[in-house]
Amino acid sequence: MAFLSDTLARVKPSPTIAVTTKAAELRAAGRDVIGLGAGEPDFDTPDNVKAAGIAAIEAGKTKYTAVDGIPELKQAICAKFKRDNGLDYTPAQVTVGTGGKQVIYNALMATLNPGDEVVIPAPYWVSYPDMVLLAGGEPVIAEAGLETGFKLTPEALEAAITPKTKWLIFNSPSNPTGAAYSADELKKLTDVLLRHPHVWILSDDMYEHLVFDNFVFATPAQVEPLLYDRTLTMNGVSKAYAMTGWRIGYAAGPEELIKAMRKIQSQSTSNPCSISQWAAVEALEGTQEFIRPNQALFKGRRDLVVAGLNACPGIECPVPQGAFYVYPSIAGCIGKTSKGGAEITDDEAFATALLEEENVAVVFGAAFGLSPHFRVSYATSDAALTEACARIKRFCEGLS
Ligand SMILES: Cc1ncc(COP(=O)(O)O)c(C=O)c1O
Repeated sequence: MAFLSDTLARVKPSPTIAVTTKAAELRAAGRDVIGLGAGEPDFDTPDNVKAAGIAAIEAGKTKYTAVDGIPELKQAICAKFKRDNGLDYTPAQVTVGTGGKQVIYNALMATLNPGDEVVIPAPYWVSYPDMVLLAGGEPVIAEAGLETGFKLTPEALEAAITPKTKWLIFNSPSNPTGAAYSADELKKLTDVLLRHPHVWILSDDMYEHLVFDNFVFATPAQVEPLLYDRTLTMNGVSKAYAMTGWRIGYAAGPEELIKAMRKIQSQSTSNPCSISQWAAVEALEGTQEFIRPNQALFKGRRDLVVAGLNACPGIECPVPQGAFYVYPSIAGCIGKTSKGGAEITDDEAFATALLEEENVAVVFGAAFGLSPHFRVSYATSDAALTEACARIKRFCEGLS
């Protein structure tokens, strides 16, 4: 009898975490590595939020809480959805988990039966297909490539839906491309979903507040109210409030689904950290004044990186509207050989050689389901980004 489960054999470890770990190891070994792999802001949690966490500790708010969130946080989440998205939810329709990741996992665990399909546009956040597999479902990948600005077309969505489809996982702005759907673009997708009443939508709005150039964020339940009863609108404090380590994510949707997700959480982790929950109340209810300066900061970095990468021979980098990632194509580099003698057969070979020869850590596109590309996280200093672009340029110029 095998000791490890068959389910485990269906999934792979997170490649983004692997790249970040590898970069840290090389740095610890004395190499001057620039890490462009990490998906988190490079600055600290705002002071008012930290203070709320400290106050929670001092007030003894350190015990178990309700499994899927304290009433104060659920109330703050309802107010956030109303304020930012025009969506009406009651606290009974809200769930809070240990990061957005757990919330998505709970939703899939609570709803998927063997053979159920989940449509995932590619490139995708690395965890979606593996979480679907862990929950016993089947990921169905719908390609959304460079030619459509990395956006799923209504035709591709229609073609991916079968009688077995249970969910569409929708993510805008996207990790890994930064592509964001306008309300009009989104409406074309929700029109398709209206024709398929058995399909639910899991909208991952994690990067809502990281949009540029006056882009107006929109989410499916807001764009098409007729889908409200089959939409799980998921979000979190990790990216917008630089709170990745605090581990708080949340979602709102139909009460029956929320209850089912609570049941999963009650038998796995129970409540998310009590202290983090109080900090998240402050994040959502306190001043939002750092969001705009952060947008400006990230926009500046995006422009720097896009220009730097487009100056590299063989690379084509579109300009994304949001998040803190770019997803350049390296089609022009495939089939060449690096100065160090590495054959660039695919994007994994490109990323490996770039790390070996120029000490720049990026995540190869195959990890996100669309090649030949790589993902750059520009959530790092201008100086590091400028130097990284110079190294990538030197690497590309050395290809022959
Ligand atoms: C698209 C997307 N969704 C969800 C998450 C998970 O966020 P959290 O850190 O809150 O679990 C991430 C984190 O990288 C992400 O990029």
